[in-house]
Amino acid sequence: MIRVVAACLVLAGTVLLAGDSAQYVGTNSCKMCHKTEAKGNQFGIWSETKHATALATLSSHEALEIAKERGLEELPSESAECLPCHTVGMGLGGYQLLSAAFVADAANKKAVRKNKSLENVGCESCHGAGKNYKSRKIMTGIFDGSISPDSVGLVMPNEETCTACHNERSPKFTGFDFETMYAKIAHPYPAGMRE
Ligand code: HEC
Ligand code: HEC
Ligand code: HEC
Ligand code: HEC
Repeated sequence: MIRVVAACLVLAGTVLLAGDSAQYVGTNSCKMCHKTEAKGNQFGIWSETKHATALATLSSHEALEIAKERGLEELPSESAECLPCHTVGMGLGGYQLLSAAFVADAANKKAVRKNKSLENVGCESCHGAGKNYKSRKIMTGIFDGSISPDSVGLVMPNEETCTACHNERSPKFTGFDFETMYAKIAHPYPAGMRE
C-alpha cells in the first residue's frame, strides 16, 4: 500500500511539471525551430547539458550499483523507479518502454522514432507537452503576448518545475540551489530579442 501511494506521489509530481496535456511530441520537434544562433540556439545549449544524456546514465556502473543496493529486480534503464525522472512524460503519454518485438516491427517505425525523441530530460520535461503550442502561429503569439502560455499548455518553468525531479526521491540528491543549477542550463534569447 505504501508503495502504491509513493508511486502516485511520483506521478503527481510529474503531472505538475507536464501541464494538463499528455500530448508529447518529442525534443526533435522543438529542434527544428530552436537551433539557430540568431534566436538563442536553445536546442544546441540543451544538448550540451547533462539532461540530454540522462537516459544513458541509467546504464552506467553507478546506476547498476544503486539498483543493486535497492534490490531492483529489473535494469534501472527499464525500471519505473528510475525512468520517470530520466525521460520525458513517462506514465503521462510520453516515454514508454517498448518491447523488442514492437521495435523490430517495421510498421511501428514512426512510434519508435518518437519514443526515441522522448528519451532523456527533454524540452517538454520542463515546458510541458507540446502538441497544442508547437505551431509557429501559436509560438509567435506567445512571444508577442497575444496568447497566454497557460492556455496552450506551455509552461514557463520555475524552481518548482525543477524540484519535481531534483528532490530526495533521487538516489543522488544532495540539495538543490536554483540559482546555481539554473545557470548551468540557461538558454535565453540573445540580448535585444525581447524588445
Ligand atoms: C514551427 C516552429 C516552432 C516549433 C516546432 C517550436 N517552436 Fe517554440 N517558438 C517558436 C517561435 C517562432 C518562438 C518565438 C521566439 C522566436 O522567434 O524564436 C518560440 C518561442 C518559444 C518559447 C518562449 C515563449 C516566449 O515567452 O517567448 C518557448 C519556451 C518555446 N518556444 C518552447 C518550445 C518547445 C518546448 C517546443 C517543442 C515542444 C517548441 N518550442 C517548438 C517556434 C517554434
Ligand atoms: C524530469 C526531471 C527533471 C527536471 C524537471 C529537471 N531536471 Fe535537472 N536533472 C535531472 C536528471 C535525471 C539529472 C541527471 C542527469 C545525468 O547526469 O544523467 C539532472 C541534472 C541536472 C544538472 C546537472 C547536474 C549538476 O550538478 O551539474 C543541472 C545543472 C540541472 N539538472 C538543473 C535543472 C534545473 C535548473 C531544472 C529546472 C529549471 C531542472 N534541472 C529540471 C532531471 C530533471
Ligand atoms: C525523483 C526523480 C529521480 C528518480 C526517481 C531517479 N533519479 Fe537519478 N537523478 C535525478 C536527478 C535530479 C539527478 C541529478 C542529481 C541530483 O539528484 O541532484 C539524478 C542523477 C542520477 C545519477 C548521477 C548522474 C551523474 O551525472 O553523476 C545516477 C547514476 C542516477 N541518477 C541513477 C538513478 C537510478 C538508478 C534510479 C532508480 C533507482 C534513479 N536515478 C531514479 C532524478 C531522479
Ligand atoms: C531543465 C528545464 C528546461 C529544459 C529541459 C528546457 N528548458 Fe527552456 N526554459 C527553462 C527555463 C527555466 C526558462 C526561463 C523561464 C523564464 O524566464 O521565465 C526557459 C526558457 C526558454 C525559452 C525562452 C527564452 C527567454 O529568454 O525567454 C525558450 C525559447 C526555451 N526555453 C526553449 C526550450 C527548448 C527548445 C528546449 C529543448 C531543446 C528547452 N527550452 C528545454 C527550462 C528548461
